[in-house]
Amino acid sequence: MQILVTGGAGYIGSHTVLSLLENNYDVIVYDNLVNSSIESLVRVEKLAGKSIEFIEGDICDKGKLSGVFKQFKINAVIHFAALKAVGESVKIPLSYYQNNVHGSVCLLEVMQEHKVHNFIFSSSATVYGEENDVPYVETMKFGTPSSPYGASKVMVERVMSDFAFSNEDFRGVTLRYFNPIGAHESGTIGEDPKGIPNNLLPYVAQVAVGKRHELSIFGDDYPTVDGSCERDYLHVMDLAQGHVAALNWLNCHSKFSGVEAFNLGTGNGISVFAIVKAFEQASNKIIPFEVSPRRVGDLPAFWANTSKANDELNWQANRSLDQMMVDTWRWQLNNPNGYQS
Ligand code: NAD
Ligand code: UFG
Repeated sequence: MQILVTGGAGYIGSHTVLSLLENNYDVIVYDNLVNSSIESLVRVEKLAGKSIEFIEGDICDKGKLSGVFKQFKINAVIHFAALKAVGESVKIPLSYYQNNVHGSVCLLEVMQEHKVHNFIFSSSATVYGEENDVPYVETMKFGTPSSPYGASKVMVERVMSDFAFSNEDFRGVTLRYFNPIGAHESGTIGEDPKGIPNNLLPYVAQVAVGKRHELSIFGDDYPTVDGSCERDYLHVMDLAQGHVAALNWLNCHSKFSGVEAFNLGTGNGISVFAIVKAFEQASNKIIPFEVSPRRVGDLPAFWANTSKANDELNWQANRSLDQMMVDTWRWQLNNPNGYQS
């Protein structure tokens, strides 16, 4: 079965491609490499002992995309390709709407033209916004997005619902990721942020390896266990396997049409201070930090209700917090300059 993976050279995409190959799917990656390197796929091929078809291209380029659908008999599309920096999306919102929303519409149009109906979308916990109580459940209404990035996820989910309403062949799954961290246990593929990391774990790892001086903890006066924000961190390999589970779910539900949403998380909230402590234990390094003001747009605490994914996808995030830290550290140590090293 051939799976088209847009954005498959990126952080979550590359780990998912590995899981797909390990589960005997054939993979075609379509990526414009705007935030990734082809080296990730070279390493995935080595780990899997299998080859990947790679096409460099933009999801907004319908002509090129259409050629891919002509060349390969694609059974399903897993759609990771997007810009993902929350802060950047506030500065250049039009690029985010163009890339993430318009690009997704282009992809759906080309899929429709080629009668490919199975679609798995990378959504985010950010769609629940601040109006909903935790834990977040799939039946909740969308909240108000706190950034153009978040809005782009809500918009694409809406596009999927409207498209499904008009087209009874469409079979969409939207996976709402909580906070993916960690790396493959081999230490050869992982997260490789360009410039100063926005996210907590890559920043902590770069402090531990000596690339950054100290961590800023954004706020210690939230109404949480220890005053810092709580998030639902899950191992990227568990998340990757969630995509295989979603694909299997589509395969098993041959009569399904419409859109189904699933939360992918562990169901536990972990504070920033707890992450720092766990990383120190795993790496045997001290992480110097200072407490700085709250970051605009951050919510105090959120985590997933994972019952639906556990029961219907038969999926669970099994890897421990310690494993997430150990694997992040191994990747960082082995690849201090990411895929450049
Ligand atoms: P990433 O930046 O590592 O991967 C995204 C990939 O898409 C990159 O390889 C990039 O080159 C490619 N890409 C971007 N725009 C493209 C375009 N127009 N055409 C073709 N390729 C394009 O990000 P990631 O962390 O792997 O995230 C993957 C998906 O998961 C994204 O949709 C992201 O919004 C979503 N997501 C990520 C997180 C997270 O914390 N990492 C959380 C929730 C949701
Ligand atoms: N944090 C710090 N210092 C840092 C970086 C982060 O204290 O240098 C704190 C943040 O304030 C937050 C927590 O660490 O409390 C996690 O922050 P991240 O930036 O790692 O993650 P977010 O929860 O802000 O957002 C992530 C993704 C979004 C996605 C969301 C939900 O970046 O794309 O998870 O899935 F929408």
